Amino acid sequence: MKKTILTGLRVNSELTLGNYLGALLPMVRLANKYSKEYAVNIFVPDLHSIISSIDGNLQENTLRSIKYYLAAGLELNENIHIYRQSHVPAHAELAWVLNCVATMGEMSRMIQYKEKSEGKESTNVGIFDYPVLMAADILLYSASFVPVGEDQFQHLELTRNLAERFNNRFGETFVVPEETRKQAEFMGTDNGIRIRDLVNPDKKMSKSTPGENSKIMLSDTPEQAAKKIMGATTDSLENINFDLSTQPGVSNLLQIEALINDRPLGEVIREWQGKTRYGDLKKQVAASVQNLLADFQAKYAAISDADIEKLLPEGEAYANEIANAKLAEVYQKVGLR
Ligand code: TYM
Repeated sequence: MKKTILTGLRVNSELTLGNYLGALLPMVRLANKYSKEYAVNIFVPDLHSIISSIDGNLQENTLRSIKYYLAAGLELNENIHIYRQSHVPAHAELAWVLNCVATMGEMSRMIQYKEKSEGKESTNVGIFDYPVLMAADILLYSASFVPVGEDQFQHLELTRNLAERFNNRFGETFVVPEETRKQAEFMGTDNGIRIRDLVNPDKKMSKSTPGENSKIMLSDTPEQAAKKIMGATTDSLENINFDLSTQPGVSNLLQIEALINDRPLGEVIREWQGKTRYGDLKKQVAASVQNLLADFQAKYAAISDADIEKLLPEGEAYANEIANAKLAEVYQKVGLR
């Protein structure tokens, strides 16, 4: 059996440059590089979307998110499978079984849950439970590699723990995904990727941050995006250096520059280290972001909904076949069959 690379992007709204550089682009690069040796599963976690409000129409957002992969350069072939989570019922069914393996303690420690529920009077159970559904998304397909941003690493660790616990309790059933250090290595980075908020670089860039200048959306005009980079918060040390704790703004710019141009971060750091003019670095990064968006948006505009709709029947037939076989094995192991 071929190993599998798998990922998904929630489609509650437009995506940010953080989603693009942290997950979408790494997945596209890995798929283009490895799709001869690996199965590549790209799915839309639409069941995940309904844990929170949705801008626009969910089904239109779904098609849009698949277009994003193609606009980012995904080269389709018979080893790349594209499907919608809600069209493969086994995801929700396995999530139920895994709910009975996961503990309240470990789920309560999930940072994303804490962040998403903080300050709210009431939180839906889906927000609490969605990492279990995510584990099901991954384990059904025996995925070894799951390219995601650093904020999802804790959910990957949970997935590994649930798989190991299930295997210990019921016998070898699931492939345990690689540990996060190996995931990062596979994506060609030292650590997980976290693109920072441009105004407040101690935080990650997030679509839910209200300030327009904090984030670059994939729908921003290239000029708007360049302006946001030029206005990004840096520091007053007047010395370019990669240090996320003392110089997160400058470090973020170096990281963005490396990812867009597919260059090793170390090489970009060496090029800029010790220079004093932050304006020069900003100009360079602004130009990179501007070119990236211009190219991405031109490609995006050339793809029709019909182009996407014709990919789904093959992807969903494939996904149901693999997922149903794994679910049958699980049902048998736990005694339901
Ligand atoms: P989601 O939709 O919140 O985010 C999609 C992807 O974008 C990454 N990301 C970032 N990366 C770097 N810097 C940032 N500032 C940044 N912001 C977001 C996220 O890490 C993610 O990879 N639960 C997942 C979706 C999901 C999934 C799965 C992923 C559901 N099932 C199975 C992989 C495998 C989520 O909510 O990501």
